[in-house]
Amino acid sequence: MDLFEYQARDLFAKHGVPVLAGEVIDTPEAAREVTQRLGGKSVVKAQVKVGGRGKAGGVKVASDEDDAVAKARDILGMDIKGHTVHKVMLAELAPEIAEEYYVSYLLDRTNRTFLAMASVEGGMDIEEVAATKPEALAKIPVDANEGVTPEKAREIVAAAKFPADVADKVAEVLVSLWKTFVAEDALLVEVNPLAKVVDGDVLALDGKVSLDANAEFRQPGHAELEDKAAANPLEAAAKAKGLNYVKLDGEVGIIGNGAGLVMSTLDVVAYAGEKHSGVKPANFLDIGGGASAEVMANGLEIILGDPDVKSVFVNVFGGITACDAVANGIVQALELLESKGEAVTKPLVVRLDGNNAELGRKILDDRNHPLVQRVDTMDGAADKAAELAAAK
Ligand SMILES: Nc1ncnc2c1ncn2[C@@H]1O[C@H](COP(=O)(O)OP(=O)(O)OP(=O)(O)O)[C@@H](O)[C@H]1O
Ligand SMILES: [Mg+2]
Repeated sequence: MDLFEYQARDLFAKHGVPVLAGEVIDTPEAAREVTQRLGGKSVVKAQVKVGGRGKAGGVKVASDEDDAVAKARDILGMDIKGHTVHKVMLAELAPEIAEEYYVSYLLDRTNRTFLAMASVEGGMDIEEVAATKPEALAKIPVDANEGVTPEKAREIVAAAKFPADVADKVAEVLVSLWKTFVAEDALLVEVNPLAKVVDGDVLALDGKVSLDANAEFRQPGHAELEDKAAANPLEAAAKAKGLNYVKLDGEVGIIGNGAGLVMSTLDVVAYAGEKHSGVKPANFLDIGGGASAEVMANGLEIILGDPDVKSVFVNVFGGITACDAVANGIVQALELLESKGEAVTKPLVVRLDGNNAELGRKILDDRNHPLVQRVDTMDGAADKAAELAAAK
């Protein structure tokens, strides 16, 4: 889960990374009081989860309270790379900035380690520095067990060639930033710019944090960081039911068991759709190993509740869960939905293969539900589902 800048700022503050005061607002008028509290000036910053806000006009200095209201009015509602600005953070104006640096920690999957990155050429163009002057961006692996000790921090500082006058302060920031990374179960913490201001202080003026969703169970505080307004209602409903669901743009609802099978089902349906008015998969939904009637009903309920869905493809390969159990699950799921008064009106194409496939198919054939069609091959079933979606 990616956080907004203001949320990253709060986490930094909690773990001792030096930040300036800041408050988030969603109406222009609120900028007046906040700017007053911040000393009569403020920096108005668009809160969107996309980079390049400054260049897009989403970061502006306000010289007084009236100016802050005007700038908040300009920025609220602005579209930055397809993201509408619903909130702005008003930040305390930093003392004059002498230099801008870059520091971050991230999970380096390729090398199976954590990575510290640091550069004295931070600021708004770090991506360009990374691309054109890779030697200016130091990359130092961090051992998960040892972490960033003051010693390790000095190693990073030396590798990135920070000037001697800020070396100690940057090293302190690196230690606190590592604490943030570990304590919050983050996958990424980034400060850009880490600014050296005229009085010699070093301040985190902008931050990016991405949290590891796998750690949710031990991070109860993280739930409230979720941007509920942006969450897709179907995805939220699926999450509440513990389903692995991602909403997509197409018309063919997909249910499968196992992430790999579902991924290839998306491909096969997209390919089949090319012959049928270009219909595409409407979602990713992996119901996992169990595929009980209840899980199947939950999955079907979410998918049938999607107004974009015109047909549904249930693609199950029986492994540990045998196909007869899955077939019973489908039959019971339809009964469950109908008994709840939810009319099932969209056609279902079911492909069952693997463990006990024959028995599973027989169960569906015997039930003979008017909306359920059985197709034995994955390609054939994808074609049928695409055809039905296109015909609607
Ligand atoms: N509180 C502040 N006081 C003074 N100057 C600031 C402050 N916050 C940001 N700035 C200046 O504005 C520049 C851009 O701000 P920031 O880094 O927050 O946005 P950005 O880099 O454009 O956004 P993104 O991270 O989305 O690419 C900074 O490099 C810094 O020079
Ligand atoms: Mg920035």
